[in-house]
Amino acid sequence: PYVITQPCIGVKDASCVDVCPVDCIHPTPNEEGFEESEQLYINPDECIDCGACEPACPVNAIFEESAVPDEWRHFIKINAEFFKR
Ligand code: SF4
Ligand code: F3S
Repeated sequence: PYVITQPCIGVKDASCVDVCPVDCIHPTPNEEGFEESEQLYINPDECIDCGACEPACPVNAIFEESAVPDEWRHFIKINAEFFKR
């Protein structure tokens, strides 16, 4: 799956939400919790690896799991954990 990393924090541009064909990026601007959430997260069980979100992000926060930079690899777990709450 794709993963949202550090640059999203405090930015939450949400352009990624608009292009995701399976709506697996949360919370969206219309959902409860968006204001409190510091970043958005990709549900790894629902992402179909289409890649549409990656170029849509203005701050390059999104990477395919295997391409996540070393310093941000903990975000793989952070994205997955969001959906286990
Ligand atoms: Fe959605 Fe595609 Fe991005 Fe996965 S890779 S989060 S399916 S836009
Ligand atoms: Fe965040 Fe980029 Fe999406 S800033 S909300 S990952 S478009």
